[in-house]
Amino acid sequence: MRALVVDHAAPGQLALATVPDPDPGPDDVLVRVAAVSLNYGELPRSSGVAAGTVPGWDAAGVVERAAASGTGPKAGTRVVTWGWTGGWAELRAVPVGELAVLPDSVGFDEAATLPVAGITALRALRKAGVRPGLRVGITGASGGVGRFAVQLARLSGAEVYALVGNPARGEGLTALGAAHVVTGADELDAPLDVLLDNVAGPQLTELLDHMARDGVVVSIGSASGAPTALRPSHLLANRLTLVGYQDAGDSAADLAHLVDLLEQGRLRASVDRVDDWKAAGDAATALLERRVRGKAVLTVG
Ligand SMILES: NC(=O)c1ccc[n+]([C@@H]2O[C@H](COP(=O)([O-])OP(=O)(O)OC[C@H]3O[C@@H](n4cnc5c(N)ncnc54)[C@H](OP(=O)(O)O)[C@@H]3O)[C@@H](O)[C@H]2O)c1
Repeated sequence: MRALVVDHAAPGQLALATVPDPDPGPDDVLVRVAAVSLNYGELPRSSGVAAGTVPGWDAAGVVERAAASGTGPKAGTRVVTWGWTGGWAELRAVPVGELAVLPDSVGFDEAATLPVAGITALRALRKAGVRPGLRVGITGASGGVGRFAVQLARLSGAEVYALVGNPARGEGLTALGAAHVVTGADELDAPLDVLLDNVAGPQLTELLDHMARDGVVVSIGSASGAPTALRPSHLLANRLTLVGYQDAGDSAADLAHLVDLLEQGRLRASVDRVDDWKAAGDAATALLERRVRGKAVLTVG
């Protein structure tokens, strides 16, 4: 089969190549992939990632062969899938517990955005105990996780403060549910009860001074790549809780929930660009250079 592989000499360090078909385990379905989405955290950025590896966390397509164990969806079923590797390929073997069935009204492009970005936003908000009336700040709100987090926080009844790099990066966030779109802590008009942080660095240091008493900070990522100075007084003075979130699979129920929200029109996939997978390098470079607002999707085959 064909797949995108890590190639350090190629644009965006990604190239199409022929690789062996996957070998499904007894509880795996084999999926013919139609669309995938790119996540910041999985893009090859250094020579530390082995050449020839097939990356890919998010993939949507059609079940080509049901699981040998008889569990899970039948051949011909449209699905969205999550996994740590191997999604950016014509065929993906995936455990039946890491997928959700797609209704006809949900397209593969939209569905492919859900697994990592959508689940991360959903679970991070859950971890923070977000509920109606809380003021929730979201850094990197212009990005993939951020745009889902803004919408899901609003659906939970929160007052959302979307933090973005500049006003243009914040375009569309008000329509998704942000009550405030700001470019820095100094623009906040009230302390935050919850902060979902995708960016880290000096911005996070500053935001820790703008938390309400008993506030909760969920660290999701460090897109800035910059170190974060953390003073104990930050945590002590306002009795803050600082927790980390790491994606961990067991995704079927949460994926199905996100698919339902898409189908009902209560959640938008924020697909900013769709490219043929031959242009994966361009799309990956655009994402790393902060030129994507929301999600970048590749069509496969
Ligand atoms: N813990 C987990 O399980 C998990 C899961 C998914 C993602 N993550 C992490 O969470 C972060 C967000 O992921 P994502 O998929 O939403 O990424 P994304 O779509 O690329 O969005 C990241 C956002 O961070 C902001 N940013 C600030 N400084 C940046 C810099 N120097 N380089 C790039 N972006 C910068 C950008 O917003 P502005 O341009 O508006 O500043 C950008 O929109 C990443 O660090 C990712 O690795 C972690």
